[in-house]
Amino acid sequence: MIVPEVLTKEPVRSERSAFATDPARLTTETELFPADIDQATLLIVDDEELNIRVLKTHLRHKGFKKILGCVDSDNALQMVDKHRPDLIILDIVMPGKDGIEVLAEIRSRSEFASTPIFMLTASDDPVQKAIALEKGATDFLSKPVDTAELLARVRNAIAMKTHFNLLRNQANILEMLVRERTAELRASRMELVYCLARAVECRDTNTGKHVVRVGQYVGLIARRLGVEQSLAELYELTAPLHDIGKIGIPDHVLLKPESLTAQETEIMRLHCIKGQQTFVDLPPKRWLEMQRGNSPEPPGDSPPISRVLAVAANIALTHHEWWNGTGYPFGLRGEEIPLEGRITALADVFDALGTARPYKPAFSPEDSFEMMKPQRGSHFDPEAFDAFESCFNDVLAVRGTHDDDS
Ligand SMILES: [Fe+2]
Repeated sequence: MIVPEVLTKEPVRSERSAFATDPARLTTETELFPADIDQATLLIVDDEELNIRVLKTHLRHKGFKKILGCVDSDNALQMVDKHRPDLIILDIVMPGKDGIEVLAEIRSRSEFASTPIFMLTASDDPVQKAIALEKGATDFLSKPVDTAELLARVRNAIAMKTHFNLLRNQANILEMLVRERTAELRASRMELVYCLARAVECRDTNTGKHVVRVGQYVGLIARRLGVEQSLAELYELTAPLHDIGKIGIPDHVLLKPESLTAQETEIMRLHCIKGQQTFVDLPPKRWLEMQRGNSPEPPGDSPPISRVLAVAANIALTHHEWWNGTGYPFGLRGEEIPLEGRITALADVFDALGTARPYKPAFSPEDSFEMMKPQRGSHFDPEAFDAFESCFNDVLAVRGTHDDDS
């Protein structure tokens, strides 16, 4: 048989993409490039060993080096699993499993969904071809095999698979970069929150660890309550800023060691509203009505309020509200209090009990919890309290990791 000259030339060495120059970034083991025909692994499944030998001879002559043969179709899938060929040639008529059955088995594995599979057939039966195509055959080779046709089709299929792999790798790399950048942004956002929260704590008697612990307790309780993961992360992120409004409380009130007068208590309680307005510059009652859908959104020229700022504002405004309506600043009752505010109330009180003050010692976590129990259903949301109790071991672990003395 005369082989056209174009098929006898060396494979054209095409330019590799920028991605291909960094092997560490290529993640699949079947990566293959147009210049690497000699690295391609081919598998021929045919019960006639002579047919395999003939095909191997032609393919080797054109630069293919890794060519495997399989005469027992029942073992074909094992060989595919073991060697992960870049291209498979399957005889249709074989004893045991026929080529169509083997084809279907291979295609049932998602990792071989894009592997080119050529069907060898001596028949022109359109029904048989239709079935093979339906099962995922890439192309057909007629027996006896025309050498030029074989080489051209194999080479084209390898080139196609190569480009497919490149595109898939580029997609994987872009996805990986997006994940890395997202993680960096999340980490830097968390650091900024902690810096801001510690700045507030500098004016108070708490250490910076208090805000870290409160944030983590809130995340634990929210997840135990079944709050959706991304929202639970927002609660955890913003809870450390619950007392940011204390920045606006004068020193003679904030730092007063003695009991506050009634007037000073009123001033101190303003830290909730000041905190909400740090995040969302709206009157607090209007903000609450907006949250309930009873008040229109801010005018169109106002910047949109992000979820993170909305959650932070809710926590700052409502973390001193009580479930029974006797808290402040508005005496909200039950589910009128945003969930993030109810959870933060638990975490804040628990951590405050565990911290020494001029007027009280630091209570152990167990004693703090016992002291809070009678307030389940009065101060605290009973469901949130139960969630807090059920994750108490995790709470203790956070307490241990972020101890004030560590
Ligand atoms: Fe507070």
